[in-house]
Amino acid sequence: MAEQRDFDFLVLGSGLAGLFYALRVAERGRVAIVTKRAADDSATSWAQGGIAAVLADDDSFDDHQRDTLTAGAGLCHEDVVQYVVERAPAVVESLVKLGVHFDPAEEDAPSGGGFALGREGGHGRRRILHHRDATGREVERALVERARAHPNIALFEQHLGVDLVTTLRSGIAGPNRCAGAYVLDAKTNLVHCFLAPVTLLATGGGGKVYLYTSNPDVASGDGIAMGYRAGATVANLEFMQFHPTCLFHPQAKSFLITEAVRGEGGILKTLAGDAFMPRYHAMADLAPRDVVARAIDSELKRSGNECVLLDITHKDPAFVRERFPTIYERCLSFGIDITRQPIPVVPAAHYTCGGVRTDLHGETDLPNLFAAGEVSCTGLHGANRLASNSLLECAVFADAAAEESLKRLDEARPSAEVPAWQAQWVRGATSR
Ligand code: SIN
Repeated sequence: MAEQRDFDFLVLGSGLAGLFYALRVAERGRVAIVTKRAADDSATSWAQGGIAAVLADDDSFDDHQRDTLTAGAGLCHEDVVQYVVERAPAVVESLVKLGVHFDPAEEDAPSGGGFALGREGGHGRRRILHHRDATGREVERALVERARAHPNIALFEQHLGVDLVTTLRSGIAGPNRCAGAYVLDAKTNLVHCFLAPVTLLATGGGGKVYLYTSNPDVASGDGIAMGYRAGATVANLEFMQFHPTCLFHPQAKSFLITEAVRGEGGILKTLAGDAFMPRYHAMADLAPRDVVARAIDSELKRSGNECVLLDITHKDPAFVRERFPTIYERCLSFGIDITRQPIPVVPAAHYTCGGVRTDLHGETDLPNLFAAGEVSCTGLHGANRLASNSLLECAVFADAAAEESLKRLDEARPSAEVPAWQAQWVRGATSR
């Protein structure tokens, strides 16, 4: 039977943004995390590169801000860029405390704050903390483990947000605000009503709108649509970012080749062996990813070929296997030994730069609805996100949203106002 379930906080999505937020607010109340499939089935789990933070002695907040603004093509909000960049070292520390293992500094290798630092497109410095080439998987592992163990967190896997509950939709007088969400239990096919004074959208982006994407199947854009239908403002949806290098192979579905491969010296070449990037940008292979993706597209159109090549065969094979074990194994499974053969790659849809618009607290213009991570449009990315600023944004805005939600908890308990209407809606919806 369809039920009404009351919580203090409702979180839709179980990537870094949702989990980081849940773990913070769970200190003060009962949290429901609703997630479409298994808890670790999220875009976070697929993030290879890492998280950008200024930790090296030769780096500065100004440099990280400048790189973010340049990549964003003049459309980032400078106050947001400064806010996020300056909080990066603190959120890295929080992640480490939550049990995330970043690769430690090694003798004679670039490092900062005790961690190995990688480089990716658009970054003028090495500032990417990583866990080999599977950073997101490590972040997700640590946070899911914590969330499962937390007595105040209830994890609803195989549950899909259908629509947001708002006071306007329920006919309650006064300014419209969010009061929870209708949630489909995929196993029973029943729609339940989850009510909470505060709701966080953390459902990720909409890369699956495209046939060729680096995103998991759950990246369906449903959170952006739910926010929009409930009356929240959405922005910048025209800025869909294409990652330059996804594996090109008939059997390889959605497999990213991290920019860190180019950060460690990988070179893009045409099938004829021409290293073309210096012709397109002064940073050559480490230009911002929109520049690299467009350069590849133009080479493909010019040549009529189906892919270009990413060549890291000139590096020490042991280093390549150690630094990129996931990519090495996956490519090998398709018969490509990346220590000896260049990798066939094409651009693919990767990141939704726009989303549900938020303020610096992660709150949307629908009161009591917060958004964090790829579902949101905070102003950080502008027209084009800088590599490895996405996990960073997830953590910074989840933290800000948690801070504000905790203040809000005592002021807003609309769930008491809607149950009668709610029960009626649920009966109507599920009897159809
Ligand atoms: C990558 O590893 O190239 C992707 C990182 C990102 O999207 O920020």
